[in-house]
Amino acid sequence: MRRIEGYVIVSADGMIADAKGVMPDSLKNAADQRFFQAALDRAVVIVHGRHSHEGGPRAAQRKRIILTRQIAAIAPDPAHPNSLLWNPLGASLDQALAQLGVGDGAIAVIGGTDVFSLFLPRYDAFHLSRAANATIPGGLPVFAEVGPNATPEQVLARHGLRPGPRRDLDADAGVSVVTWER
Ligand SMILES: NC(=O)c1ccc[n+]([C@@H]2O[C@H](COP(=O)([O-])OP(=O)(O)OC[C@H]3O[C@@H](n4cnc5c(N)ncnc54)[C@H](OP(=O)(O)O)[C@@H]3O)[C@@H](O)[C@H]2O)c1
Repeated sequence: MRRIEGYVIVSADGMIADAKGVMPDSLKNAADQRFFQAALDRAVVIVHGRHSHEGGPRAAQRKRIILTRQIAAIAPDPAHPNSLLWNPLGASLDQALAQLGVGDGAIAVIGGTDVFSLFLPRYDAFHLSRAANATIPGGLPVFAEVGPNATPEQVLARHGLRPGPRRDLDADAGVSVVTWER
């Protein structure tokens, strides 16, 4: 069985990075990183856009699918044998997974904005971490629909997901996570 799960940390105002695409230190938290990296270790593949990357010491060992419009459908990533380049307009996710030899298990979607948005109809779970003390005015939102009239929670609810309990990851820093499920 396959499950599609999203992972993000957002500011109080629902942003993932500043206007230049840089993730500020106010969104970086060691406890959230441990939660995130442990989840990625359990996933069978990581999916993200060309400007995103989870980093960390185990990144090179992970299978990954990188979204890009620079190719028509699917292509190997010459620099990284565990990676595949994918344009969803030219090939399905199933085709990309088959090409990369990915079996059953969790597919971890890790951003950015357009990639998080693309999978909104398909998430089995979305892990929304929040750094409550951070705000990023004019930043990049987690979903394209997030703005003055919609929070990330409202967007997730609109797409049929329901929240679980809030779990503190680092109470002193105001960082917590809520897992939303379909
Ligand atoms: N706070 C967090 O948890 C979190 C999570 C993720 C990212 N971030 C931060 O956010 C920053 C920027 O995010 P971003 O939204 O600009 O980057 P992104 O989604 O990682 O990369 C954007 C690029 O991905 C490709 N792409 C995206 N959607 C696509 C689609 N539907 N079809 C084909 N290709 C697609 C395009 O590549 P081409 O230009 O090659 O066509 C696009 O230019 C990152 O640098 C990172 O620092 C933070």
